[in-house]
Amino acid sequence: MSELSAKIWSKNAKRVNEQLEIGGCKASDLVAKYGSPIFIFDEDDFRTRAISWKSELSKAFTANHGSVIYAAKAFLCVEVAKIIDELGIGLDVCTGGELAVAKAAKFPPNRIEMHGNNKSEREIAAAMEYGVGRIVVDSMQEIERVSRLAKERNHVQEILIRLTPGVEAHTHEYISTAHEDVKFGFSIASGAAWRAVTDIEAATSLKLTGVHAHIGSQIFNDEAFRETASRLIDFMGRFAKEFHRELLDLNLGGGFGVPYIDSDNPITPAEMLSQISKIVIQESKKVNISVPRISIEPGRAIAGPSMTTIYTVGTTKEVELENGKFRLYVAVDGGMSDNIRTALYGAQYIAEIASRRSVSKSRDCRVVGKHCETGDILINSIELPSDISPGDLLAIPVTGAYGRSMASNYNHVPRPGVISVVNGSARTIIRSETEADLLALEVSESANPIGEQK
Ligand code: LLP
Repeated sequence: MSELSAKIWSKNAKRVNEQLEIGGCKASDLVAKYGSPIFIFDEDDFRTRAISWKSELSKAFTANHGSVIYAAKAFLCVEVAKIIDELGIGLDVCTGGELAVAKAAKFPPNRIEMHGNNKSEREIAAAMEYGVGRIVVDSMQEIERVSRLAKERNHVQEILIRLTPGVEAHTHEYISTAHEDVKFGFSIASGAAWRAVTDIEAATSLKLTGVHAHIGSQIFNDEAFRETASRLIDFMGRFAKEFHRELLDLNLGGGFGVPYIDSDNPITPAEMLSQISKIVIQESKKVNISVPRISIEPGRAIAGPSMTTIYTVGTTKEVELENGKFRLYVAVDGGMSDNIRTALYGAQYIAEIASRRSVSKSRDCRVVGKHCETGDILINSIELPSDISPGDLLAIPVTGAYGRSMASNYNHVPRPGVISVVNGSARTIIRSETEADLLALEVSESANPIGEQK
């Protein structure tokens, strides 16, 4: 079997004596202790990536660097929020639930940014009461809501406005967000963005500090980011002329891609940011404004590669295809409930037997889960050793972003926990659910009258 591809697996994943080891812990020991499926979090890998984005941002933008703001939606729990805090990075939350985790971690509110295209009044109020630094506004109604709730609290809320630059990011339609026909942001082209800033400037309880755009996810090169930066700076130039003040912040969102398979080749963070930096300086000059502070919101690029899911193979089944060929279906003890990305986006992954090294010839396999659904596929087609069999542990890397965070309880399958591994020691940061957890939500009560009774 091949050695682990360093560009895909987390930093501290390696094969030692035939076994996969992550952070100095053997896959089989981890499964013996914590069960399977289980997410294994290479904490040092996560920290290293977060620090590297932070230092590359400073290097690329020098005096004009803003913040790296980790997109919590990729993967969040209290321990991760504490790590992000410790590293001096910001946190992007987009719901009351994510905010509640940040609060539980005592995350400094001034480093939190609140996103969301349909924040409830309760969520906005909770953000203000915690003292969240920035709220990113996304609709006309929300401008009114945030301004009213701030006024009621005698508070001036710093906000960013989310703009839709009309740029096509080359990624899956469902994770591409900044072309015109989307629910997010205010379109620059249609004039909606201009109407919104005019309303914001008239509201005394709002302080607009800058503009934001997020153009999509799993983007491999700088082209769409440069185009976005240029359109946003053009907008900032127009704002400066009209309102006689400059907006300080330009937040370019997240979306930086990572390799899931060998043919994925995203450019490095350093290349990405230095290319963006050139255009930012050039365009600011062109529209005659000071170079803004640049912030970014990577989620996947920090959390994605840091996690590996370990499954146990339960059954294998030889299936004859129409062309007379055979495919081996390898069914593991999880599936679309812990990784919906293949079913939803046609995402591609690799896998390795983690519990032994096989010398058998490889053959075409399809890795599937245990759910009652044909589309419950984790890997559509992969060469795996032909002797793969029940009891083998199968590891799928790069599941840290949008794996656990999009997990469900479909078919009443408990969601796997997350175990952080460092230097041969392991600790639980999210425990695995049990059937008792699922049953804990069940209620049997007699019916109560609702509303005014006649
Ligand atoms: N900022 C905003 C405003 C976002 O909406 C997102 C992601 C990010 C930052 C972080 O993007 P990242 O750096 O992680 O690409 N569930 C999909 C990805 C959806 C991303 C949604 N927004 C997936 O599994 O590929």
